[in-house]
Amino acid sequence: MTGDLAAQLLRRGYLALPHEHRQHGGADVFGSSVLGRRAVVVRGREGARLFYDTSVVERAGAIPAPLANLLFGRGAVHGTDGATHASRKRMFLDLLDEDRVADLATTIGRDLERRAAGWSGREVVVFDELVEVYGAAVQAWAGIIAGPAQTRRTSRRLAAVVDGFGGAGAAYPKAWLARWWIDRRARRLVAQARSGWPEARPGSVVAELATGPGAGLDARLAGVELVNILRPTVAVAWAGTFLARDLHAYPQWRALLDDPEHRVEFGHEVRRTCPFVPALAGRAVRRAQIADTTVEPGDLIVLDVPGTNRDPDHWAEAERFLPERFAGVMPDPFAFVPQGGGDPTTGHRCPGETLTVRILSETARVLAGVDYEPVTDTAHDPTRIPTLPARGLPVRVS
Ligand code: HEM
Repeated sequence: MTGDLAAQLLRRGYLALPHEHRQHGGADVFGSSVLGRRAVVVRGREGARLFYDTSVVERAGAIPAPLANLLFGRGAVHGTDGATHASRKRMFLDLLDEDRVADLATTIGRDLERRAAGWSGREVVVFDELVEVYGAAVQAWAGIIAGPAQTRRTSRRLAAVVDGFGGAGAAYPKAWLARWWIDRRARRLVAQARSGWPEARPGSVVAELATGPGAGLDARLAGVELVNILRPTVAVAWAGTFLARDLHAYPQWRALLDDPEHRVEFGHEVRRTCPFVPALAGRAVRRAQIADTTVEPGDLIVLDVPGTNRDPDHWAEAERFLPERFAGVMPDPFAFVPQGGGDPTTGHRCPGETLTVRILSETARVLAGVDYEPVTDTAHDPTRIPTLPARGLPVRVS
């Protein structure tokens, strides 16, 4: 063991797990500790299979409260198990079904196109632009009515919650402040919709959470789950900014992105390679065996997400950016885990993956038509969680 994993993640960021992996001789399974608790770190398909076996791994209490409550909110679906998880998850999957997310993604494409039309001859910061466009679109789609200034403020606060989850310096207290503000706003929106004044748009996310399938949740918790749709949609701006960097780095893809299938391949490769979720954690509820390690009840099970997405046993030329690897293939649900693995209907895999794929596809479509040049070095700091191309990728647009 080479030191507490939580401390390593704080200190080394995305370099922590690769470092530990090397220290353990490149093993796919090794013992560690997280805040004094015994932990087993797993990576690769077999590791992901164990992690998503709900007879072995549950979620309640696995993620330390200071992180879970900041990023997901107190009582959120992420930390639930069994029947509570199943019914809450059904609600998310219904709120994010194909037809509903198609509308939102189309709006994002259209809004981004309009916005990009105003970039000519200017310098813009890609990340800031995407936060505003995605944020405004998801708020309106969810049924939140507000003026442009308040909408912009809300988008920035949603991004601030994500920016601070890794505990980086001043971003951490800023994230808590943003979380407090956003929870209060979301709770009020639900309470207003329940009182009927102002009436929420029928069928909107706010209405469904207030008086539809979310009616059984108290206003605070329904608000937390509303934020669990708004916040991650804004978080797609992290992947979108890496996409803009990759599009600049691999310009041969520009001409191909007229084709929706190539856009999906490009977006998948961006999600496979860009650093975002460093790890996922669950708690073993029964004894199990993986490789030559015995997992004991109470152990934390940590899934190395980037290590799985780049596992050389599964991915040919894992370190290269090759969107064509996804041509005509359905990614393996336990090998490609940027948004979790397994089946979203029965496990914790992200219910927003279809939406993410569509938003990135629209972003690729629009950016492929924009002639931009980064004005700074585009490298990201791998020791900071979450990270971005330097300064959010300022670019000069011709
Ligand atoms: C770049 C974009 C995104 C990334 C990288 C991402 C990643 C993830 C990951 C890793 C998980 C946890 C999986 C697990 O615990 O096994 C997750 C869960 C979740 N995500 Fe996403 N996500 C993204 C976008 C979205 C979007 C757009 C939405 C909704 C609009 C969303 C809503 C959720 C929810 C509600 C859960 C909890 C699911 C559960 O516990 O059953 N995510 N996401």
